[in-house]
Amino acid sequence: MRLTIDDVRSRFIKHFDGTTGNVYASPGRINLIGEHTDYNNGFVFPGAVTQGMIAEIKPNGTRNVNAYSIDLKDKVTFSLDDPKGPSASWARYIFGVCREMMELGVPVEGFNTAFAGDVPLGAGMSSSAALESCFAYALNDLWGENKIEKMELARVGQRTEHKYVGCNCGIMDQFASVHGKAGSLMRLDCRSGEFEYFPWNPQGYKLVLVNSCVKHTLAGSPYNDRRLSCERVAAVIAKHHAEVETLRDANYEMLEEVKPEVSEEDYKRAKYVIGEVDRVLKVCDALEAGDYETVGKMMYETHYGLSKEYEVSCEELDFLNDIAKEEGVTGSRIMGGGFGGCTINLVADELYENFVTVVKKKFAEKYGKEPIIIDVVIGDGSRKLC
Ligand code: GLA
Repeated sequence: MRLTIDDVRSRFIKHFDGTTGNVYASPGRINLIGEHTDYNNGFVFPGAVTQGMIAEIKPNGTRNVNAYSIDLKDKVTFSLDDPKGPSASWARYIFGVCREMMELGVPVEGFNTAFAGDVPLGAGMSSSAALESCFAYALNDLWGENKIEKMELARVGQRTEHKYVGCNCGIMDQFASVHGKAGSLMRLDCRSGEFEYFPWNPQGYKLVLVNSCVKHTLAGSPYNDRRLSCERVAAVIAKHHAEVETLRDANYEMLEEVKPEVSEEDYKRAKYVIGEVDRVLKVCDALEAGDYETVGKMMYETHYGLSKEYEVSCEELDFLNDIAKEEGVTGSRIMGGGFGGCTINLVADELYENFVTVVKKKFAEKYGKEPIIIDVVIGDGSRKLC
């Protein structure tokens, strides 16, 4: 069942004073290719999905925010002026966004809010970025005269993750949630912030997510360690090549040169990233040429790298990837930060039905429950619904 405005509005009316406010939405995202490249200043290639967060918000004339999570059936009140903020982890996302918007000079005031989402949690589809972007967009509309530009709204969400949640993420998820456009993927250069919309309408193929339902959380996870590995290697390469700031600027030859100076583990991590930055560009070229075989091949290469070099896969995701390969799926790989969540699969139309049946059956035989199949529809970014 898809989430509607009414699902949120009915709860807002029930849990507050019976009046209504403004309603905003912000989506989750997929990423065709370019994983763990964003914080290395490389390229990513995401698109927003039609699942997301919806929040109803109404100023309440105080300095307090009263927030109701419809999905968790939990209500939290926090003061905008208390730098400590709430302890409930879901409320810290909203608190962080409020504080960061205030830092930018937006005169945020107290409000009541109820919100819900239909992005599966921990699936690697960025439910948390959807939440952050929804509130950043809303606060900009309610108190910021929409003066803060979209990329800065995305950065508000990113800083919230860094400062209030503990995940040193890149910009991809919040970028995609804010800038999404129905029917288009976006290639973002994470260094310059420049991006381009790529119409996504593959003839003869579908994109489908297979959710292993292995839950992941990136906060305080090995995610931050991966980032540190990349930074360490980039710093060593920079000693020999002053032009290298991040792994985006490095190549395999440079990496080989510093191999004796970095740990074996850091070497593997960097090797994956250098390859992945290049794969994004290859996929863009292949898409322009209508060459889906190459797109798919790159996706499998990414999976291999994420599993064996970057080591952010898990048994279930590797199993899903193996099934995709056996069934002749054009491309398949882990999507998002890893450690659980979904694979993203580029499947030829004629193989689709069979792939879905087989992947459900084989996964259930091995792990006792069916994975969840999600057909990807590329949707719009953050917006006001009413
Ligand atoms: C998470 C992070 C992103 C990005 C991906 C991996 O989703 O939030 O910034 O690093 O992992 O590509």
